[in-house]
Amino acid sequence: MHNMQDDLSRIEAFLRTAVPGTDVVSEAMRYSLQAGGKRIRPCLTLEFCRVCGGDVEAALPFAAAVEMIHTYSLIHDYLPCMDDDDLRRGKPACHVQFGYANALLAGDGLLTLAFETLARAPLPGERIAEACAVLAAAAGHLGMIGGQTMDLENENADVPLETLRQTDTLKTGALIRAACVLGCIAAGADETQKTAAAQYAHALGMAFQIVDDILDVTSDDATLGKPVGSDAAQHKNTYVTLCGLDGARDEAARYTDEAAQAADRFGEAGRGLRDLALSLAQRNK
Ligand code: IPE
Ligand code: IPE
Ligand code: MG
Ligand code: MG
Ligand code: MG
Repeated sequence: MHNMQDDLSRIEAFLRTAVPGTDVVSEAMRYSLQAGGKRIRPCLTLEFCRVCGGDVEAALPFAAAVEMIHTYSLIHDYLPCMDDDDLRRGKPACHVQFGYANALLAGDGLLTLAFETLARAPLPGERIAEACAVLAAAAGHLGMIGGQTMDLENENADVPLETLRQTDTLKTGALIRAACVLGCIAAGADETQKTAAAQYAHALGMAFQIVDDILDVTSDDATLGKPVGSDAAQHKNTYVTLCGLDGARDEAARYTDEAAQAADRFGEAGRGLRDLALSLAQRNK
């Protein structure tokens, strides 16, 4: 992605001042939002905006909104009533640092702030309304929350690969897809571009979660910044438990290939998206 480093700086600068407030929950929100995530989702929003000919600066609030929802989902994902992990992005998880109630509220706060931020984007009202509906649906009970529900329900159970695919399509895929489509919406893209973006996003999202599952087995806490072996400890179904390590690697490669081909539909402008898909497949955290 030719402007990836620039985009990262833009995103970090925006997020640094995005959470006002001096109380403990505001502090917890800032703590998790600035804990050093990879910022894949907001980068996707900005890159799709660019690819579709939009104003990247104006799309920043959309990108930030997606990252806020992602961060909220992780704060809650790490709570003892969910995956029960205490290390996140190399730092104590939000609930370890601030207590359970504050972590719960920090998640709620980020979810709410996401929509306030999005609504204030310097873009035409109808683009904001469409982005709002797309993001809410992706984050909601038929999107990310639905996937998290399946993920928890299927702990300790034998599920077919199709069920795992559906779980990951929702828990991880939905938000990645929204990140890409929001970039298109910010740019005023047409339906053909949005469809191509959604196809890229679906494949990228699947590959992303499969690699996350692989790293949970093959990496170490220091590199990953989160506890390895978490999935086994929680008796999760993952690509590694269902397909084995080699099978999971094959699946990740297949989806990565699919994402790269979808990126090619944007012609030369899609080169950055292709490179991003390939580099995410090689990531070590
Ligand atoms: C982790 O997401 C959770 C999944 C959906 C697999 P990321 O790997 O993007 O986490 P950060 O934002 O870089 O910490
Ligand atoms: C998290 O997936 C997905 C969401 C937060 C929606 P994981 O549970 O695999 O993420 P990590 O590995 O704990 O970061
Ligand atoms: Mg989880
Ligand atoms: Mg987890
Ligand atoms: Mg994981």
